[in-house]
Amino acid sequence: MRVLIVGGGGREHGIAWKLAKSPKVEKLYCAPGNAGIAEVAECVNIGVMEFESLVAFAKEKRIDLTVVAPDDPLAAGAVDAFEAAGLRAFGPRKNAAVLEGSKAFSKDLMKKYGIPTAAYETFDSADKALSYLETADMPIVLKADGLALGKGVLICSTLEEAKAGVRSLMLDKQFGSAGNRIVIEEFMTGREVSVLSFVDGRTIRIMTSAQDHKRAKDGDKGLNTGGMGTFSPSPFYTDEIHAFCQEHIYQPTVDAMRAEGREFKGVIFFGLMLTEKGPRVLEYNARFGDPETQVVLPRMKNDLVDVFEACIDETLDQVELEFEDNAAVCVVLASEGYPEHYEKGYKISGLEKFAGADGYYVFHAGTKFNENGDVITNGGRVLGVTALGSSLAAARANAYKAAEWVQFENQYMRRDIGKAIDEA
Ligand code: AMP
Ligand code: GLY
Repeated sequence: MRVLIVGGGGREHGIAWKLAKSPKVEKLYCAPGNAGIAEVAECVNIGVMEFESLVAFAKEKRIDLTVVAPDDPLAAGAVDAFEAAGLRAFGPRKNAAVLEGSKAFSKDLMKKYGIPTAAYETFDSADKALSYLETADMPIVLKADGLALGKGVLICSTLEEAKAGVRSLMLDKQFGSAGNRIVIEEFMTGREVSVLSFVDGRTIRIMTSAQDHKRAKDGDKGLNTGGMGTFSPSPFYTDEIHAFCQEHIYQPTVDAMRAEGREFKGVIFFGLMLTEKGPRVLEYNARFGDPETQVVLPRMKNDLVDVFEACIDETLDQVELEFEDNAAVCVVLASEGYPEHYEKGYKISGLEKFAGADGYYVFHAGTKFNENGDVITNGGRVLGVTALGSSLAAARANAYKAAEWVQFENQYMRRDIGKAIDEA
Protein backbone atom coordinates (compact mmCIF):
# COMPACT_ATOMS: atom_id res chain seq x y z
CA MET A 1 0.00 0.00 0.00
CA ARG A 2 1.02 3.57 -0.66
CA VAL A 3 0.19 5.87 2.21
CA LEU A 4 0.33 9.66 2.59
CA ILE A 5 0.30 11.40 5.97
CA VAL A 6 -0.71 15.06 6.09
CA GLY A 7 1.07 16.96 8.86
CA GLY A 8 4.55 17.56 10.16
CA GLY A 9 4.78 17.46 13.95
CA GLY A 10 5.46 15.00 16.74
CA ARG A 11 2.05 13.42 16.40
CA GLU A 12 2.63 12.80 12.70
CA HIS A 13 6.07 11.34 13.44
CA GLY A 14 4.36 8.94 15.86
CA ILE A 15 1.81 7.95 13.23
CA ALA A 16 4.49 7.61 10.54
CA TRP A 17 6.69 5.48 12.78
CA LYS A 18 3.77 3.17 13.56
CA LEU A 19 2.60 2.92 9.93
CA ALA A 20 6.16 2.19 8.79
CA LYS A 21 6.05 -0.95 10.94
CA SER A 22 3.06 -2.32 9.01
CA PRO A 23 3.98 -5.02 6.50
CA LYS A 24 1.14 -3.66 4.36
CA VAL A 25 2.81 -0.30 3.78
CA GLU A 26 5.22 -0.40 0.87
CA LYS A 27 5.69 3.36 0.48
CA LEU A 28 5.07 6.16 2.94
CA TYR A 29 4.93 9.88 2.15
CA CYS A 30 4.43 12.78 4.51
CA ALA A 31 3.44 16.36 3.63
CA PRO A 32 5.23 18.40 4.77
CA GLY A 33 6.89 16.13 7.38
CA ASN A 34 10.06 17.06 9.26
CA ALA A 35 13.64 15.87 9.75
CA GLY A 36 12.62 12.94 11.95
CA ILE A 37 9.73 11.81 9.78
CA ALA A 38 12.21 11.74 6.88
CA GLU A 39 13.73 8.62 8.47
CA VAL A 40 10.58 6.60 7.82
CA ALA A 41 8.78 8.48 5.04
CA GLU A 42 9.53 10.53 1.97
CA CYS A 43 8.71 14.12 2.89
CA VAL A 44 7.01 16.29 0.29
CA ASN A 45 6.99 20.03 0.50
CA ILE A 46 3.24 20.67 0.42
CA GLY A 47 1.48 22.56 3.22
CA VAL A 48 -1.36 20.94 5.16
CA MET A 49 -3.91 23.49 3.88
CA GLU A 50 -2.96 23.16 0.19
CA PHE A 51 -5.74 20.71 -0.61
CA GLU A 52 -5.48 20.95 -4.39
CA SER A 53 -1.78 20.18 -4.38
CA LEU A 54 -2.23 17.39 -1.84
CA VAL A 55 -4.97 15.75 -3.88
CA ALA A 56 -2.97 16.13 -7.10
CA PHE A 57 0.04 14.56 -5.41
CA ALA A 58 -2.04 11.65 -4.08
CA LYS A 59 -3.42 11.02 -7.57
CA GLU A 60 -0.04 11.23 -9.22
CA LYS A 61 1.55 8.81 -6.73
CA ARG A 62 -1.48 6.50 -6.72
CA ILE A 63 -1.86 6.83 -2.96
CA ASP A 64 -4.17 4.16 -1.50
CA LEU A 65 -4.75 5.86 1.85
CA THR A 66 -4.25 9.40 3.11
CA VAL A 67 -4.21 10.12 6.84
CA VAL A 68 -5.11 13.72 7.71
CA ALA A 69 -3.73 14.30 11.19
CA PRO A 70 -3.95 18.01 12.22
CA ASP A 71 -7.08 19.89 13.25
CA ASP A 72 -6.94 22.82 10.81
CA PRO A 73 -7.12 20.81 7.55
CA LEU A 74 -9.75 18.49 9.05
CA ALA A 75 -11.94 21.44 10.09
CA ALA A 76 -11.49 22.98 6.64
CA GLY A 77 -12.60 19.83 4.80
CA ALA A 78 -9.40 18.07 3.73
CA VAL A 79 -11.03 14.64 3.92
CA ASP A 80 -13.95 15.88 1.80
CA ALA A 81 -11.46 17.13 -0.81
CA PHE A 82 -9.78 13.70 -1.06
CA GLU A 83 -13.12 11.91 -1.19
CA ALA A 84 -14.42 14.23 -3.89
CA ALA A 85 -11.46 13.13 -5.99
CA GLY A 86 -12.33 9.47 -5.39
CA LEU A 87 -9.47 8.94 -2.91
CA ARG A 88 -9.56 7.16 0.44
CA ALA A 89 -8.79 9.32 3.43
CA PHE A 90 -8.79 8.70 7.18
CA GLY A 91 -10.29 11.41 9.35
CA PRO A 92 -13.63 13.12 9.93
CA ARG A 93 -15.29 15.07 7.15
CA LYS A 94 -15.76 18.78 7.62
CA ASN A 95 -19.30 18.42 8.98
CA ALA A 96 -18.01 16.07 11.71
CA ALA A 97 -14.70 17.81 12.45
CA VAL A 98 -16.82 20.67 13.80
CA LEU A 99 -16.90 18.59 16.98
CA GLU A 100 -13.51 20.17 17.65
CA GLY A 101 -13.73 23.16 15.32
CA SER A 102 -16.51 24.87 17.26
CA LYS A 103 -16.72 24.81 21.04
CA ALA A 104 -20.26 26.22 20.83
CA PHE A 105 -21.27 23.29 18.60
CA SER A 106 -19.77 20.70 20.91
CA LYS A 107 -21.27 22.25 24.03
CA ASP A 108 -24.73 22.42 22.42
CA LEU A 109 -24.38 18.80 21.30
CA MET A 110 -23.53 17.67 24.82
CA LYS A 111 -26.40 19.62 26.30
CA LYS A 112 -28.89 18.25 23.74
CA TYR A 113 -27.82 14.64 24.26
CA GLY A 114 -27.23 14.74 28.01
CA ILE A 115 -23.48 14.17 27.86
CA PRO A 116 -21.89 15.37 31.11
CA THR A 117 -19.92 18.62 30.76
CA ALA A 118 -19.52 21.98 32.50
CA ALA A 119 -22.54 24.33 32.51
CA TYR A 120 -22.08 27.15 29.97
CA GLU A 121 -23.50 30.02 27.95
CA THR A 122 -22.54 31.10 24.43
CA PHE A 123 -22.08 34.76 23.44
CA ASP A 124 -21.78 36.52 20.09
CA SER A 125 -21.57 39.97 21.60
CA ALA A 126 -18.98 41.33 24.02
CA ASP A 127 -21.59 43.53 25.76
CA LYS A 128 -23.80 40.58 26.62
CA ALA A 129 -20.80 38.53 27.76
CA LEU A 130 -19.63 41.37 30.00
CA SER A 131 -23.00 41.84 31.66
CA TYR A 132 -23.38 38.07 32.15
CA LEU A 133 -20.08 38.06 34.03
CA GLU A 134 -21.45 40.56 36.60
CA THR A 135 -23.67 37.85 38.10
CA ALA A 136 -21.44 34.81 37.49
CA ASP A 137 -19.44 32.90 40.10
CA MET A 138 -15.64 33.11 39.94
CA PRO A 139 -13.37 31.47 38.90
CA ILE A 140 -14.82 31.16 35.43
CA VAL A 141 -13.60 29.83 32.10
CA LEU A 142 -13.67 31.71 28.77
CA LYS A 143 -13.22 29.80 25.51
CA ALA A 144 -12.82 31.14 22.01
CA ASP A 145 -15.29 29.25 19.83
CA GLY A 146 -12.89 28.44 17.01
CA LEU A 147 -9.52 26.72 16.72
CA ALA A 148 -6.72 28.54 18.55
CA LEU A 149 -3.88 26.00 18.81
CA GLY A 150 -5.14 24.86 22.21
CA LYS A 151 -4.50 28.34 23.58
CA GLY A 152 -7.93 29.97 23.33
CA VAL A 153 -8.99 29.06 26.86
CA LEU A 154 -8.73 31.59 29.69
CA ILE A 155 -9.26 30.65 33.31
CA CYS A 156 -10.14 33.78 35.24
CA SER A 157 -10.14 34.04 39.03
CA THR A 158 -11.64 37.53 39.34
CA LEU A 159 -14.34 39.54 37.64
CA GLU A 160 -11.73 42.05 36.43
CA GLU A 161 -9.67 39.30 34.84
CA ALA A 162 -12.73 37.81 33.20
CA LYS A 163 -13.81 41.16 31.76
CA ALA A 164 -10.31 41.76 30.42
CA GLY A 165 -10.44 38.27 28.90
CA VAL A 166 -13.70 38.94 27.10
CA ARG A 167 -12.26 42.17 25.72
CA SER A 168 -9.11 40.49 24.54
CA LEU A 169 -10.94 37.57 22.87
CA MET A 170 -13.90 39.43 21.39
CA LEU A 171 -12.76 43.02 20.86
CA ASP A 172 -8.97 42.85 20.48
CA LYS A 173 -9.32 39.50 18.64
CA GLN A 174 -6.35 37.91 20.37
CA PHE A 175 -7.10 34.70 18.47
CA GLY A 176 -8.56 36.33 15.38
CA SER A 177 -11.98 35.21 14.22
CA ALA A 178 -11.84 32.23 16.64
CA GLY A 179 -13.05 34.78 19.21
CA ASN A 180 -16.07 36.14 17.29
CA ARG A 181 -18.11 33.89 19.51
CA ILE A 182 -17.12 32.69 22.97
CA VAL A 183 -18.31 30.10 25.43
CA ILE A 184 -18.30 31.06 29.10
CA GLU A 185 -18.33 28.02 31.31
CA GLU A 186 -18.34 26.83 34.86
CA PHE A 187 -14.89 26.23 36.37
CA MET A 188 -14.39 22.60 37.34
CA THR A 189 -11.67 20.95 39.39
CA GLY A 190 -10.28 17.45 39.17
CA ARG A 191 -7.72 15.36 37.35
CA GLU A 192 -7.53 15.57 33.59
CA VAL A 193 -7.39 12.49 31.41
CA SER A 194 -7.02 12.23 27.64
CA VAL A 195 -8.81 9.27 26.10
CA LEU A 196 -8.27 8.60 22.41
CA SER A 197 -10.63 6.43 20.39
CA PHE A 198 -11.22 5.16 16.87
CA VAL A 199 -14.68 5.62 15.41
CA ASP A 200 -16.24 4.25 12.19
CA GLY A 201 -19.46 6.23 12.33
CA ARG A 202 -21.23 3.75 14.60
CA THR A 203 -18.71 1.72 16.58
CA ILE A 204 -16.19 3.26 18.93
CA ARG A 205 -13.05 1.53 20.18
CA ILE A 206 -11.17 3.14 23.03
CA MET A 207 -7.39 3.26 22.97
CA THR A 208 -5.58 3.46 26.27
CA SER A 209 -5.73 6.55 28.52
CA ALA A 210 -3.07 9.22 28.87
CA GLN A 211 -2.45 12.47 30.69
CA ASP A 212 -0.99 15.61 29.17
CA HIS A 213 0.80 18.50 30.92
CA LYS A 214 -0.47 21.60 29.17
CA ARG A 215 1.23 24.36 31.14
CA ALA A 216 4.71 25.50 30.18
CA LYS A 217 6.31 25.33 33.62
CA ASP A 218 6.80 22.81 36.42
CA GLY A 219 3.96 22.56 38.91
CA ASP A 220 1.45 23.44 36.16
CA LYS A 221 2.57 27.06 36.19
CA GLY A 222 3.00 29.30 33.19
CA LEU A 223 1.07 29.61 29.96
CA ASN A 224 -0.98 26.94 28.26
CA THR A 225 0.95 25.16 25.51
CA GLY A 226 0.20 22.46 22.98
CA GLY A 227 1.44 19.96 25.60
CA MET A 228 4.80 19.58 27.38
CA GLY A 229 4.71 15.86 28.09
CA THR A 230 2.46 12.88 28.61
CA PHE A 231 2.18 9.54 30.32
CA SER A 232 0.08 6.49 29.55
CA PRO A 233 -1.89 4.83 30.99
CA SER A 234 -3.42 7.19 33.55
CA PRO A 235 -3.61 5.42 36.92
CA PHE A 236 -6.56 7.67 37.79
CA TYR A 237 -8.64 6.31 34.92
CA THR A 238 -10.12 3.32 36.73
CA ASP A 239 -12.34 0.55 35.35
CA GLU A 240 -15.28 2.16 37.09
CA ILE A 241 -14.63 5.51 35.43
CA HIS A 242 -14.16 3.74 32.10
CA ALA A 243 -17.52 2.00 32.45
CA PHE A 244 -19.23 5.30 33.25
CA CYS A 245 -17.66 6.99 30.24
CA GLN A 246 -18.59 4.13 27.92
CA GLU A 247 -22.21 4.46 28.92
CA HIS A 248 -22.57 8.22 29.29
CA ILE A 249 -19.90 9.81 27.11
CA TYR A 250 -18.26 7.71 24.38
CA GLN A 251 -21.08 5.87 22.65
CA PRO A 252 -23.54 8.73 23.26
CA THR A 253 -21.18 11.13 21.45
CA VAL A 254 -20.89 8.85 18.42
CA ASP A 255 -24.66 8.30 18.38
CA ALA A 256 -25.31 12.02 18.76
CA MET A 257 -23.13 12.84 15.77
CA ARG A 258 -24.96 10.26 13.67
CA ALA A 259 -28.33 11.57 14.80
CA GLU A 260 -27.25 15.05 13.73
CA GLY A 261 -26.37 13.77 10.27
CA ARG A 262 -22.67 14.30 11.01
CA GLU A 263 -21.41 10.74 11.05
CA PHE A 264 -17.95 10.77 12.62
CA LYS A 265 -15.19 8.57 11.21
CA GLY A 266 -11.69 8.98 12.54
CA VAL A 267 -10.21 9.65 15.96
CA ILE A 268 -12.19 11.28 18.75
CA PHE A 269 -10.00 12.47 21.57
CA PHE A 270 -12.00 13.01 24.75
CA GLY A 271 -10.49 15.58 27.09
CA LEU A 272 -12.05 14.57 30.40
CA MET A 273 -11.99 15.99 33.88
CA LEU A 274 -12.56 13.56 36.73
CA THR A 275 -14.60 15.78 39.04
CA GLU A 276 -16.12 14.95 42.41
CA LYS A 277 -19.45 14.55 40.64
CA GLY A 278 -17.99 12.16 38.07
CA PRO A 279 -16.26 12.44 34.70
CA ARG A 280 -17.09 15.52 32.61
CA VAL A 281 -16.07 16.36 29.05
CA LEU A 282 -13.71 19.36 28.95
CA GLU A 283 -13.34 19.26 25.20
CA TYR A 284 -13.44 17.06 22.16
CA ASN A 285 -10.69 16.87 19.58
CA ALA A 286 -11.34 15.34 16.18
CA ARG A 287 -7.83 13.92 15.83
CA PHE A 288 -4.96 12.22 17.63
CA GLY A 289 -3.47 14.24 20.49
CA ASP A 290 0.00 15.71 20.49
CA PRO A 291 1.93 14.51 22.55
CA GLU A 292 -0.62 11.83 23.58
CA THR A 293 0.05 9.93 20.34
CA GLN A 294 3.71 9.63 21.29
CA VAL A 295 2.82 7.54 24.37
CA VAL A 296 -0.25 5.74 23.04
CA LEU A 297 0.97 4.36 19.71
CA PRO A 298 4.22 2.86 21.07
CA ARG A 299 2.02 0.77 23.39
CA MET A 300 -0.43 -0.34 20.69
CA LYS A 301 -0.11 -3.87 19.32
CA ASN A 302 -2.48 -3.62 16.33
CA ASP A 303 -1.40 -2.86 12.81
CA LEU A 304 -2.49 0.78 12.47
CA VAL A 305 -3.34 0.31 8.79
CA ASP A 306 -5.97 -2.31 9.71
CA VAL A 307 -7.58 0.05 12.20
CA PHE A 308 -7.62 3.02 9.80
CA GLU A 309 -9.18 0.85 7.10
CA ALA A 310 -11.80 -0.53 9.48
CA CYS A 311 -12.84 3.03 10.36
CA ILE A 312 -13.24 3.94 6.70
CA ASP A 313 -14.98 0.64 5.80
CA GLU A 314 -17.25 0.71 8.87
CA THR A 315 -15.97 -2.64 10.14
CA LEU A 316 -14.51 -1.47 13.42
CA ASP A 317 -16.87 -3.82 15.27
CA GLN A 318 -14.63 -6.64 14.03
CA VAL A 319 -11.48 -5.07 15.47
CA GLU A 320 -10.25 -5.45 19.04
CA LEU A 321 -7.59 -2.97 20.05
CA GLU A 322 -4.70 -4.39 22.02
CA PHE A 323 -2.14 -2.57 24.12
CA GLU A 324 1.01 -3.76 25.84
CA ASP A 325 0.72 -4.16 29.58
CA ASN A 326 3.39 -1.53 30.16
CA ALA A 327 3.67 2.24 30.48
CA ALA A 328 5.12 5.09 28.46
CA VAL A 329 6.25 8.62 29.29
CA CYS A 330 7.00 11.38 26.77
CA VAL A 331 9.02 14.47 27.74
CA VAL A 332 8.86 17.35 25.29
CA LEU A 333 12.13 19.15 24.62
CA ALA A 334 11.10 22.68 23.72
CA SER A 335 12.80 25.92 22.78
CA GLU A 336 13.24 28.27 25.76
CA GLY A 337 10.46 30.87 25.60
CA TYR A 338 7.78 28.62 24.05
CA PRO A 339 4.81 29.24 23.75
CA GLU A 340 5.69 32.91 23.31
CA HIS A 341 8.97 34.05 21.76
CA TYR A 342 11.75 31.62 21.02
CA GLU A 343 14.64 31.21 18.61
CA LYS A 344 15.05 28.51 16.01
CA GLY A 345 17.87 27.14 13.89
CA TYR A 346 20.06 25.48 16.52
CA LYS A 347 21.87 22.26 15.70
CA ILE A 348 20.62 19.18 17.55
CA SER A 349 23.13 16.56 18.65
CA GLY A 350 22.79 13.10 20.14
CA LEU A 351 19.84 11.89 18.08
CA GLU A 352 21.80 8.85 16.91
CA LYS A 353 21.73 7.46 20.46
CA PHE A 354 18.14 6.37 19.91
CA ALA A 355 18.98 4.09 17.00
CA GLY A 356 18.75 0.54 18.25
CA ALA A 357 17.76 1.59 21.79
CA ASP A 358 14.77 -0.66 22.31
CA GLY A 359 11.85 1.07 24.03
CA TYR A 360 13.27 4.57 23.49
CA TYR A 361 11.96 6.89 20.81
CA VAL A 362 12.63 10.43 19.73
CA PHE A 363 9.67 11.90 17.88
CA HIS A 364 10.45 15.12 16.05
CA ALA A 365 7.98 17.98 16.44
CA GLY A 366 9.74 21.09 15.12
CA THR A 367 12.93 20.12 13.29
CA LYS A 368 14.36 20.44 9.80
CA PHE A 369 17.59 19.92 7.92
CA ASN A 370 19.96 22.84 7.25
CA GLU A 371 21.98 23.15 4.02
CA ASN A 372 24.66 20.84 5.43
CA GLY A 373 22.14 18.14 6.25
CA ASP A 374 22.31 18.75 10.02
CA VAL A 375 19.10 18.46 12.00
CA ILE A 376 18.22 21.88 13.48
CA THR A 377 15.46 23.22 15.73
CA ASN A 378 12.50 24.63 13.83
CA GLY A 379 9.70 25.22 16.33
CA GLY A 380 8.60 25.78 19.91
CA ARG A 381 8.17 22.11 20.62
CA VAL A 382 11.26 20.50 19.11
CA LEU A 383 11.35 16.84 20.13
CA GLY A 384 9.31 14.37 22.17
CA VAL A 385 11.43 11.80 23.95
CA THR A 386 9.36 8.74 24.75
CA ALA A 387 10.44 5.74 26.80
CA LEU A 388 8.63 2.58 27.77
CA GLY A 389 8.87 0.88 31.14
CA SER A 390 7.22 -1.91 33.06
CA SER A 391 5.60 0.73 35.29
CA LEU A 392 4.94 4.44 34.98
CA ALA A 393 7.77 5.18 37.41
CA ALA A 394 10.19 3.09 35.35
CA ALA A 395 9.04 4.70 32.10
CA ARG A 396 9.50 8.16 33.63
CA ALA A 397 13.03 7.38 34.80
CA ASN A 398 13.85 6.04 31.34
CA ALA A 399 12.37 9.06 29.56
CA TYR A 400 14.35 11.55 31.66
CA LYS A 401 17.50 9.50 31.16
CA ALA A 402 17.00 9.54 27.39
CA ALA A 403 16.17 13.26 27.40
CA GLU A 404 19.80 13.81 28.44
CA TRP A 405 21.02 12.08 25.28
CA VAL A 406 20.00 15.04 23.14
CA GLN A 407 21.42 18.55 23.20
CA PHE A 408 20.60 21.83 21.53
CA GLU A 409 20.97 25.46 22.52
CA ASN A 410 18.09 27.09 24.40
CA GLN A 411 16.66 23.69 25.28
CA TYR A 412 13.86 23.67 27.84
CA MET A 413 11.87 20.84 29.38
CA ARG A 414 9.55 20.36 32.30
CA ARG A 415 11.16 18.27 35.04
CA ASP A 416 7.92 17.00 36.54
CA ILE A 417 6.23 15.07 33.72
CA GLY A 418 4.46 12.13 35.33
CA LYS A 419 5.01 13.37 38.87
CA ALA A 420 1.27 13.01 39.48
CA ILE A 421 1.61 9.23 39.31
CA ASP A 422 3.32 9.31 42.71
CA GLU A 423 -0.05 10.26 44.17
CA ALA A 424 -1.90 7.37 42.53
P1 AMP B 1 -9.63 22.90 26.40
O1 AMP B 1 -8.87 23.40 25.20
O2 AMP B 1 -11.09 23.14 26.35
O3 AMP B 1 -9.25 21.49 26.78
O4 AMP B 1 -9.06 23.72 27.62
C1 AMP B 1 -7.67 23.78 27.87
C2 AMP B 1 -7.42 23.54 29.33
O5 AMP B 1 -8.11 24.50 30.13
C3 AMP B 1 -7.93 22.19 29.82
O6 AMP B 1 -7.01 21.17 29.58
C4 AMP B 1 -8.15 22.47 31.28
O7 AMP B 1 -6.93 22.39 31.98
C5 AMP B 1 -8.61 23.89 31.30
N1 AMP B 1 -10.08 23.96 31.31
C6 AMP B 1 -10.91 23.99 30.25
N2 AMP B 1 -12.19 24.03 30.63
C7 AMP B 1 -12.21 24.05 31.97
C8 AMP B 1 -13.23 24.11 32.98
N3 AMP B 1 -14.52 24.19 32.65
N4 AMP B 1 -12.84 24.10 34.25
C9 AMP B 1 -11.54 24.05 34.60
N5 AMP B 1 -10.53 24.00 33.72
C10 AMP B 1 -10.85 24.01 32.42
N1 GLY C 1 -2.20 17.48 23.81
C1 GLY C 1 -3.44 18.11 23.61
C2 GLY C 1 -3.90 18.15 22.23
O1 GLY C 1 -3.38 17.48 21.34
O2 GLY C 1 -4.86 18.86 21.97
